[in-house]
Amino acid sequence: MSAEVETVEPRDAKALSSLVAVCGIGGGAGTSTLAFLTAMYVQRFAAEPILLCDTGGPGASLALIAEQGSKLSLPQAAAAIAADALSVPIFVPVTEKLRLMARDPELDDAADLEGLARLLRDARNAHPLTIVDCGSLQRPVERSVAAQASSILWVARGSLTGAKRAKAVLRSLSIKADREILAVCGRQERNSEVEHELMGAADLRGASLVFVPSLPGVSNGSLKGALETGQAALEAIRGRLT
Ligand SMILES: Nc1ncnc2c1ncn2[C@@H]1O[C@H](COP(=O)(O)OP(=O)(O)OP(=O)(O)O)[C@@H](O)[C@H]1O
Ligand SMILES: [Mg+2]
Repeated sequence: MSAEVETVEPRDAKALSSLVAVCGIGGGAGTSTLAFLTAMYVQRFAAEPILLCDTGGPGASLALIAEQGSKLSLPQAAAAIAADALSVPIFVPVTEKLRLMARDPELDDAADLEGLARLLRDARNAHPLTIVDCGSLQRPVERSVAAQASSILWVARGSLTGAKRAKAVLRSLSIKADREILAVCGRQERNSEVEHELMGAADLRGASLVFVPSLPGVSNGSLKGALETGQAALEAIRGRLT
């Protein structure tokens, strides 16, 4: 592991800390944005630094959102760990309490899943919370992280189609975690049919349902405003995850 991770004392030899997989129900649901905002919000309350990652690949966007990136993506770091050849730090600090492992989009699909499991275990030993943007579970690396997660934050669109899709995914996918949240991003319409479908979807897993308001500034990089507007939703997510 990198010097940064090696020098951090294991937090608790008995229990691994939380690993949160943020999983989109379909593309463009707001998954990466919510992963980033959740990490930025939760780190305010953290006693020790938390870790935020994405799974690399062509859809990687956390480095873009954070306006900085690490030397390796998660799949690249996993491959280096599997080969006992990790020679660079695996994260960059975003704040004093938030570390980021994410870089620009790449075609780095060939993840070493054994190296990935080792990396995630080490990360969980070194951080009180690890959050991973798992895209929409299209790639093996995304599914592997989600399968190891202690919590899943599902992200769905707030349309009727989005709600029905959420129900189908939560009914059908075998990936499950101890704690699950269904977050619904940027809902335009409030109507009882959509809400009924969303509640039905959340009930399938005993998941909490959280509505994330429309955050107009977020696509222009106004994350400070988004943290304020989204505070109630982010607090509900934090309460369920930690
Ligand atoms: N709550 C929100 N309110 C308004 N706009 C949002 C919200 N969440 C995300 N967006 C915007 O929607 C777009 C898609 O968001 P994002 O990249 O987070 O989605 P994604 O699910 O990660 O997409 P992809 O499938 O490409 O990974 C971005 O332009 C983002 O700024
Ligand atoms: Mg994304």
